[in-house]
Amino acid sequence: MKLLTGNSNKKLSEKIAKYLKERLVNSSIRKFKDGEIYIEINENIRGNNIFIIQSISSPANDNLMEMLLCIDALKRSSAKNITAVIPYFGYARQDRKVVPRTSISAKLVSNLITKAGADRVVTIDLHAGQIQGFFDIPVDNLFATPIFARHIKKRIKSKNIICVSPDVGGVARTRGLSKFLNSGLAIIDKRRPSPGRSEVMNVIGNVKDKCCIMVDDIIDSGGTIVNAAKVLKEKGAKEIHVYITHGVLSGDAVNKIRKSTIKNLVITDTIDNYNKIKNAKNIEILSVSNLMGEAIRRISNSTSVSFLFK
Ligand code: R5P
Repeated sequence: MKLLTGNSNKKLSEKIAKYLKERLVNSSIRKFKDGEIYIEINENIRGNNIFIIQSISSPANDNLMEMLLCIDALKRSSAKNITAVIPYFGYARQDRKVVPRTSISAKLVSNLITKAGADRVVTIDLHAGQIQGFFDIPVDNLFATPIFARHIKKRIKSKNIICVSPDVGGVARTRGLSKFLNSGLAIIDKRRPSPGRSEVMNVIGNVKDKCCIMVDDIIDSGGTIVNAAKVLKEKGAKEIHVYITHGVLSGDAVNKIRKSTIKNLVITDTIDNYNKIKNAKNIEILSVSNLMGEAIRRISNSTSVSFLFK
């Protein structure tokens, strides 16, 4: 087994390598003056099973292209097997045509990864589980829920917890967490009048005097979560904690969270946000490195990955 990292999230790659007691493959990823990406693998990888670790996070186009070029370079260097480990699978939010004449970016990106030469994909909390079916190669979709559940059990002592899905699409994920915590479930009826804007229409369930735990896959502008938290407070929620796997955190999101009624936002390190959040006291990062490392070990040994979630 060998591990190769792209530039998107070297910290996470290093942590995964540490967990596996492996080193990262010696490679150079550079840019020509016009911005084109140039990859060179500086050691023999012929016949190896290679795991290339790269998030499709901002700058998404560069990071995606970097991953595709790495896969291509690995294939042309006679790697035996190539697994694309994609902690944050960007371009996943366009997974169907919601209005006429739009693209389905999740399908296009799946085609690109497969065509470049990947034999398998490992990711965590895909925006929609059915994206696995966009690939004709195996996809292992891991879940951050057990990491979140452990953190909640350690940190939140309230006996009056309710898990809240910030939109109808997130109900299955939220139900998963509520099972771990043995708690109730509430659902927010969210509408998007236009891209990037969200409106809360209704809260289904009673949140009065409850300690609300909202869970989602992505926080981007922060609009969904901040609006939801405001309405939960208006409905009498006692305190609001938020657990989100992928901290996209674009624009003013960190500030919005800082000033919001949210007591604590926990994200993971699928995207490198350590600098962005350093002045935000109510934002915390948990690492998925051990989980991803263990999944890589199990794939490499041909043992069960789903066992990690039993
Ligand atoms: C939407 O379906 C996703 O699960 C997130 O709720 C959404 O991407 C969050 O976006 P924002 O933070 O910009 O409201």
